[in-house]
Amino acid sequence: MATVDTPAEKHPKLLEDIETTEDIRISSDPLRRVIGQDEAVRLARIAASQRRHFLLVGPPGTGKSMIAQALSLHLARPTEEIRVVHNPENPERPLVEVKSMDEVERELESRGFAEGEFIDPKEAPVNVTERLGYRCANCGTYSSPRESFCPKCSRAKVAQIRSSPNNPFGDLLGGLVEVTMGQLAGRERVTTTRKRFGKEEVVVFERSGEMIKVLDQQALEKRRELEKESPKKVIVPINRNPFMLATGASEVELLGDVRHDPYGGHPQLGTAPYDRVVAGAIHSSHQGVLFVDELPHLGHLQRFILTAMQEKRFPIAGRNPQSAGASVRVDNVPCDFIFVGACNIQDLPHILSPLRSRINGGGYEILVETVMPDNEENRLKLAQFVAQEIVMDARIPHASRDALALIIEEARKRAKLIDNKDKSLTLRLRELGGLVRAAGDIATIEQAGLIEARHVRDALKRARPVEDQIKDRYGSYMGGVSSDVSTSTKESSPYHYWNYHVHDDKRGYQ
Ligand SMILES: Nc1ncnc2c1ncn2[C@@H]1O[C@H](COP(=O)(O)OP(=O)(O)OP(=O)(O)O)[C@@H](O)[C@H]1O
Ligand SMILES: [Mg+2]
Repeated sequence: MATVDTPAEKHPKLLEDIETTEDIRISSDPLRRVIGQDEAVRLARIAASQRRHFLLVGPPGTGKSMIAQALSLHLARPTEEIRVVHNPENPERPLVEVKSMDEVERELESRGFAEGEFIDPKEAPVNVTERLGYRCANCGTYSSPRESFCPKCSRAKVAQIRSSPNNPFGDLLGGLVEVTMGQLAGRERVTTTRKRFGKEEVVVFERSGEMIKVLDQQALEKRRELEKESPKKVIVPINRNPFMLATGASEVELLGDVRHDPYGGHPQLGTAPYDRVVAGAIHSSHQGVLFVDELPHLGHLQRFILTAMQEKRFPIAGRNPQSAGASVRVDNVPCDFIFVGACNIQDLPHILSPLRSRINGGGYEILVETVMPDNEENRLKLAQFVAQEIVMDARIPHASRDALALIIEEARKRAKLIDNKDKSLTLRLRELGGLVRAAGDIATIEQAGLIEARHVRDALKRARPVEDQIKDRYGSYMGGVSSDVSTSTKESSPYHYWNYHVHDDKRGYQ
């Protein structure tokens, strides 16, 4: 299987050097995996290093989401944790506290003197060290959890959880769960159980610099005591995904909320207001990317995004007026994100114009490409794309050179058919990826070791849009429509009797 390698790794220079797609090395630089969108990629690199906003415009399946996510993986790791702290003067106005990574770690360490026991990562159970990021899940090498890539095999260290099978960066994301609304479960801590003196007890393993801290039941109780002294809640943890997808988000998901408490925050019975505060996507993407696909569909919420972009701070308040959360507000919660929006050309007029001008004035707008010239360099890129789709899918075999040639041929045809471009290759790659997977499925079912040309031919026959299948069978799309109507009026239709007989046929009631 092709492995993920450093960009310095040699790539084949010519298509004819490629025996199968296994010969193609896949870059560990996420932006290098985006093909044919050179200008967008160049600007995405600038946007990442200069922290600029970004708007991607173009048809579906051309890599807009992919570029946005790759951009987020080029940002430095978040260095700030956001917490909400109990305000004894006025519990309904909890205070916000921002802690640096060093402070968070120092705090953990100083708490460590109070409870728990430090052990060397090599003494902890293997699955624990892997999940905490000390041990590479691929090659077993130990290294500091601050390094997300293994120094030996250069893969993402944390177990390769593929949160979404079609994520083009599933391998790079490692333990980070992709595109979730709300927060991520941090991997600072692993909870397990162990048997001691015949009794089952909870043990917590916690990251603490180069060492692992072990907290047994007693230590955990002690910690709970300490936490009562300084009541606070981490709403945006330091260990988080730098990519937040806010497409289709509700107001609450986007801006945060204060949850309802049936006891109205009663000091003894209820949950304290600070403890009910939930961050929105704008806060969770602090120091990362807030990505909104189909931007115009966000409607009036665009205005809030604009304010958040300008102020870099946005209050969290209870958003349901009927809820006990409505009286609670936390001011000045940081939300310094890079905004990346995407939409297609028709939707452009529906983007709030001050938001457009904000992106224009403080970032880049880019129209993505739909085709690229048909030359050796780009055919090689298409081969790279096929290899990526196969490796990311993980369920299909590699493709032979002949299969590759057929896929490239199809890319040429589609450039002509859809975009009416000669001597070009299509960049509507989601659909082309579908062809690769369909051919791969056929090969897999046949138990073939490789995707061969015949599998691609087969897939081309089978994986056609249903409109084309209708045209083939009925001569035209409309022919298909009318055939459908006429069958439903024939006696054989189960509804026919009801529609055409029952109401006229008085005998039915006799
Ligand atoms: N330029 C590209 N380079 C490599 N792979 C691509 C590219 N464009 C698309 N793909 C493949 O197609 C998949 C879908 O692309 P993506 O989700 O980025 O499209 P999109 O432009 O965001 O589409 P939509 O408008 O429907 O959201 C990607 O996950 C990737 O596998
Ligand atoms: Mg998309």
